[in-house]
Amino acid sequence: MKMEKIENAEIHVDNRKLACSVYRGTEGERAIDIRKLRKETGLITYDPGFVNTGSCASKVTFIDGEKGILRYRGYDVADLAEKCEFVEVAYLLIHGSLPNAEQKAHYSRLLNEHSMIHEDMKEFFSHYPEHSHPMAILSAMVVSLSSFYPELNDGDKEDLAMTVTRMISKLRTIAAFSYKKSIGEPAVYPRHDLRYCENFLNMMFSSPVRKEPIDPVMTEALNKLLIIHADHEQNCSASVVRSVGSAGANLYASISAGICALWGPLHGGANQHVIEMLEEIYQEDGDVDKLIERAKNPRSPFRLMGFGHRVYKSYDPRAKIAKELCKKVIAATNKNDPLLDIALELEEKALADPYFQERNLYPNVDFYTGLTYRELGIPTNMFTVMFAIGRLPGWIAQWLEMKKDPDSRISRPRQIYTGPNARRVVPINERK
Ligand code: CMC
Repeated sequence: MKMEKIENAEIHVDNRKLACSVYRGTEGERAIDIRKLRKETGLITYDPGFVNTGSCASKVTFIDGEKGILRYRGYDVADLAEKCEFVEVAYLLIHGSLPNAEQKAHYSRLLNEHSMIHEDMKEFFSHYPEHSHPMAILSAMVVSLSSFYPELNDGDKEDLAMTVTRMISKLRTIAAFSYKKSIGEPAVYPRHDLRYCENFLNMMFSSPVRKEPIDPVMTEALNKLLIIHADHEQNCSASVVRSVGSAGANLYASISAGICALWGPLHGGANQHVIEMLEEIYQEDGDVDKLIERAKNPRSPFRLMGFGHRVYKSYDPRAKIAKELCKKVIAATNKNDPLLDIALELEEKALADPYFQERNLYPNVDFYTGLTYRELGIPTNMFTVMFAIGRLPGWIAQWLEMKKDPDSRISRPRQIYTGPNARRVVPINERK
């Protein structure tokens, strides 16, 4: 299925007329093709943050932000979270269809076979300072993989399917190793007899002297959390992955850049900041109203973390799943997390507040996921790493699609220059 041309449009400027095509995607969204704009009129578009700019046509993920719909390759995210394991969704995003039982078994076997990282890479972890952020380590380790598997740098020859499988498997191992380093414990190696999520939890929480039982409720929760993060079309990090890849950079370098973009607090880094915000309310006086007022103050840069979204103008469907999951996991542990009560109160009050209503600000995926990660025993500074593990198949799918797209060109936006006009360099001894 391709974009369908549905009508012609004209842009009138400087007494000139530019004929443009209007295209429609398979879910009805329309776009005006302005590729000839600069060549024929000398004008460029001005669209900070690319709010109105379609950078590509994609078959991977569909979002309807008004209706709160998210689908991967046509499947609703809630349906996938209900019926699939994360590895099936990873396969779906990368290969375009869900695996059958045989394909899944083969894929899981491959993931297990490639789960180790080169022994020398383990050394890297020990040279990071004690309080290094795991996202910094993750990004550096991923780009380092290109040195340890150099044959994969050669775009023509590389077996992409193998690179991709390696990366999905190894990212999880790197993440768990970086956690072990941060708590001063030896790394626990991946095991071939465990499935993807169990394997991760085992590497995180067992030790050479202690085998930690893996609770199926936790494994299921992790599967669902990774699924709801698996792709989100042309978000900041996916656009970065595509942009870096568009320059011809290898997959490892592109994903490493995507990890850095995800780290930002306005993007995936928000999940860490949500918990820190909830903890701050709890430790102070539990006053949710004060925080809401701070978020509404136009003179304060503070924003309610885990709220708002560029695309969703109604409830983020991922937040719905995360909220239910969080309640389920907390109930299963028979614990009462006071931060959940604060989050529920904060959500209720913000949704009733005209400031948030007028701006269509709803909880996003990051609002409730951190609370669930806490129950899984994952430390706060690892939350964004968890997001990255989930998002990896999406980044890869976007990168592969960009590579195959005949319309793809090196990403290179234009600008409107507003600096000084031409001037001459004054010799240094004459400068004021
Ligand atoms: N708290 C308070 N006000 C907000 C918030 C918030 N969380 N989000 C947006 N606004 C206000 C913003 O100040 C602006 O108000 P005004 O029109 O008076 O200037 C209006 O809402 C529109 O905001 P915007 O900044 O133009 O929206 P954006 O599309 O550029 O930004 C966002 C989207 C997600 C960066 C933003 O909502 C935000 O900073 N949220 C908090 C951080 C967060 O939770 N990020 C995770 C996003 S979901 C995970 C992912 O996929 O990345």
